[in-house]
Amino acid sequence: MSPALKVSSIWRNSCVAEFGRLDILVNNAGILPDPIDSKAASVFNAKVETLRTAMETNVCGPLLLCQALIPLMKERNYGRVVNLSSGMGQLSDMNGGYPAYRMSKASLNVLTRILADELKGTNILVNSLCPGWVKTDMGGPSAPLTPEQGVETIVWLATLPDGGPAGGFFRNKKPIPW
Ligand SMILES: NC(=O)c1ccc[n+]([C@@H]2O[C@H](COP(=O)([O-])OP(=O)(O)OC[C@H]3O[C@@H](n4cnc5c(N)ncnc54)[C@H](OP(=O)(O)O)[C@@H]3O)[C@@H](O)[C@H]2O)c1
Repeated sequence: MSPALKVSSIWRNSCVAEFGRLDILVNNAGILPDPIDSKAASVFNAKVETLRTAMETNVCGPLLLCQALIPLMKERNYGRVVNLSSGMGQLSDMNGGYPAYRMSKASLNVLTRILADELKGTNILVNSLCPGWVKTDMGGPSAPLTPEQGVETIVWLATLPDGGPAGGFFRNKKPIPW
């Protein structure tokens, strides 16, 4: 078993031991490993290693957690999975720069779509969102949104009623194009 798979299994086992169930999975952890300097952040200077790092954390991490934890949700036919994507991964509004981050967030959206399709007919709702530009370590002090504002759509998706949307991409609690 790979170390990453082992960690996901440990999470699953401690969830079962402590709570006996799992209702909500928020895949929030993410990194923006591209250089911040705009010239260095060009796709023409992108390092494959940077892309690998971004894919490991922003895509493989959520994939492994979904593989480990959604089976727990299936046991009770209830689950809400929220994937923290970004407008920087939005194909319909794709711009240059930050290629590793952009490609990883677009891939995370693909994961959302695949999961939602494979879970069709269940009460496990998987969605992606862009929180907007939020004042965090990643967003920096110039971001217009507070963390409290940034989590609003996350909480909304994490507590969707039965029959709510699945396989969507949201910002400010409204669907946005992929
Ligand atoms: N801030 C924004 O404006 C913005 C906009 C769009 C999307 N997002 C997305 O929102 C999510 C949260 O971003 P943020 O702004 O809160 O970023 P942040 O301030 O940089 O925090 C990222 C969090 O992810 C954790 N993390 C990173 N790599 C990890 C790993 N390999 N394993 C476990 N935890 C890991 C970090 O833990 P440690 O502190 O322990 O390293 C930290 O708690 C990310 O997915 C980001 O891409 C943010």
